[in-house]
Amino acid sequence: MRHILTPLDFSVSELDAIFDIAADIEANPKKYADACHGKKLATLFYEPSTRTRLSTETAMLNMGGSVMGFSDANSSSVSKGESIADTIRTVSCFADIAAIRHPKEGAAMVAKQASRIPVINCGDGGHQHPTQTLTDLMTIRSLKKRLNNMTIGLCGDLKFGRTVHSLIEAMSRYPGIRFIFISPNELRIPDYVIDMLDEKGIPYEEYIRLDDVIGRLDILYMTRVQRERFFNEEDYIRLKDFYILTRKIMRRAKNDMFVLHPLPRVNEISVEVDSDPRAAYFRQVQYGVYVRMALILALLGIKVNDDGSITEEGGGKLPL
Ligand code: CP
Repeated sequence: MRHILTPLDFSVSELDAIFDIAADIEANPKKYADACHGKKLATLFYEPSTRTRLSTETAMLNMGGSVMGFSDANSSSVSKGESIADTIRTVSCFADIAAIRHPKEGAAMVAKQASRIPVINCGDGGHQHPTQTLTDLMTIRSLKKRLNNMTIGLCGDLKFGRTVHSLIEAMSRYPGIRFIFISPNELRIPDYVIDMLDEKGIPYEEYIRLDDVIGRLDILYMTRVQRERFFNEEDYIRLKDFYILTRKIMRRAKNDMFVLHPLPRVNEISVEVDSDPRAAYFRQVQYGVYVRMALILALLGIKVNDDGSITEEGGGKLPL
């Protein structure tokens, strides 16, 4: 059985196959309308979410499956002290696949170890957020027609932003990638990520001012300051508006640079930027549905053939 805890759980060629299926879903949605008929998705969200939960549920519903779960742990037996392991063992009796978000790093790994169904990590603390990364890669691939040979700027909270950590790991596997990290000193990229880049010999630079480097970027990945992971409110208030991307700053960017953001946005991108054709963050949300549909099919071993017929693989073999 396959799970996804980090983007590295799938090889580059497996991810390429998932993106090909996602592109086919975008072009031929009707072909997939019954692909998950009779299948059930459980969403176990111990932390707030709008996009990830609704996008994962939409993915299953778009394919004729059904969904169950909780979006507030207090409404489940977690509030009585039930462990993640016991919860997922129970859910394994009800559902065919589970999507979990939890505030603690490693929670998805605990779930995977106890689970009898595939587990999708929808974010574990400040650690990883692989389905967001698949969404980001799919968006970049669709907009730039490649995933190699580009300069990616990541700006904002690079310390706590789990989408940042997942994206760097995933993009590091493609040739010709250069990273530019833009953050205040307090929110610098963690040492373990820097060590990984050093080990792999992947070039990176660190800056504090966005204006100084925006003109060199092919992709600008903006992030919000993660209030929920700060130890004190004073630090959050001091740092929360450190970056605000405005039309004026966008004038310095290349014409073919795209702005991505995992969302939710707070203040870090001014709404005046939304009408700029290079602002791709809402298109990114749409790609998230296609890529999660493709991922669910892969984890359930379902292949949709060209004529719309369905083949189910067993034994954890991906139908890619
Ligand atoms: N990008 C993302 O994870 O958004 P939500 O927190 O709304 O799921």
